[in-house]
Amino acid sequence: MSVASNEPVLKAVIPAAGLGTRFLPASKAIPKEMLPVVDKPAIQYVVEEAARAGIDDVLMITGRNKAALEDHFDRHWELEAALERKLDDEKLRRVRKSADLGNVHFVRQGEPLGLGHAVLCAKAHVGNAPFAVLLGDDLIDETDSLLQDMIAARMRHGGSVVALMEVPQDQIHLYGCAAVEPIDGETDVVRVTSMVEKPAAADAPSNLAVIGRYVLDPSIFDVLETTAPGRGGEIQLTDALLTQATSDQPGGGVLGVIFRGNRYDTGDRLDYMKAVVRLAVRHGEIGSDFREWLLEWAGSDECNGLEQHQLTH
Ligand code: G1P
Repeated sequence: MSVASNEPVLKAVIPAAGLGTRFLPASKAIPKEMLPVVDKPAIQYVVEEAARAGIDDVLMITGRNKAALEDHFDRHWELEAALERKLDDEKLRRVRKSADLGNVHFVRQGEPLGLGHAVLCAKAHVGNAPFAVLLGDDLIDETDSLLQDMIAARMRHGGSVVALMEVPQDQIHLYGCAAVEPIDGETDVVRVTSMVEKPAAADAPSNLAVIGRYVLDPSIFDVLETTAPGRGGEIQLTDALLTQATSDQPGGGVLGVIFRGNRYDTGDRLDYMKAVVRLAVRHGEIGSDFREWLLEWAGSDECNGLEQHQLTH
C-alpha cells in the first residue's frame, strides 16, 4: 500500500463510447449522453461535478456518432451573437456555461473492448499523475462532495479509490462489488480487500456496489495493459482494481469511500425517468411548480390508470 500522496487530481476521464442501445430510438442519431435530464444533457452534470472538485481538464473517450458532445462543450458563436442582439443574458449564460467548464478533450476508443480498455485509451493524455474517472450513467447530487472526499482519501492514504454504495442484495449483480475492511480512525473510508464484477447475489462478498466514480493511481495503466478480458469478454476496470487491491507495488492499494448521498441512475429508461423526476422537483426555477403538479397528478384518475389506456411503444 502506498503512503499519503500530495499530488493533486487535475484530470478526469469520462468514458462515453457506449452505443446507448437501451435508449433506442432516442439514441440513434444523438449520443445517449446528450439526452436531457430536466434542462441539461446528462453529461453536463458529470462535467460540472468534476469542475466542482477542481478538475478542469476532461478527456472523453468516445466512439462513432459522438460529434454532438464536441459541439456541446464548444462555443456556439452564432447562437451567442443572436442572444446578445436580443439582450437575453440569462440564455446567454446558459449557452456559454457548458463551454466554460474547462478544457474538454476527446479520444476515440476504436473498438468496444470494455471499461478497462476505455480507461487505457486515456494513458497518453493523463500521463503519470492520479486522475478521476466518472461514468456518465451515474449522476451525483450537486450538494454532495463524493469526488472531493475520494480525492482527500487518496491524499491521506495513497493508492486508488472507488465509490461504494450499499444496494439491496437483488441488485448487486448489476455492479462491481467490493469486500472491505475498516481503517483505524476513518468512518466512511475503508480498505478494499477484494473485488468482483457483477457477481450473482449468492457469490457477492458484500452489499457494497461500485458506483461510477474512481480516483486512480496512474500505475493502473500498466495493470490494464496486462489485464485479460473478463466478464462479458471485456477488459474490466474492476479486474485491474482487484490486482491493485492486492498489490504491494508503488501506487497499489485500493480504498473505498462509502457514499450515503443522492445518486441518480440514468442507465436505463425507468431509472432515467426517476432521475428526471427527482431532479425536476429540486430544480431552482421549475421545481416547486413541478412538485405541486406532481402531487396533484399522482392522486388523479389519469395517473391511477382509471382514465387512459397504456400507449403502445
Ligand atoms: C460499470 C462497472 C461496474 C460498476 C458500474 C457502475 O458497469 O463495470 O463495476 O459497478 O459501471 O455504474 P456498467 O454499468 O458500465 O455495465
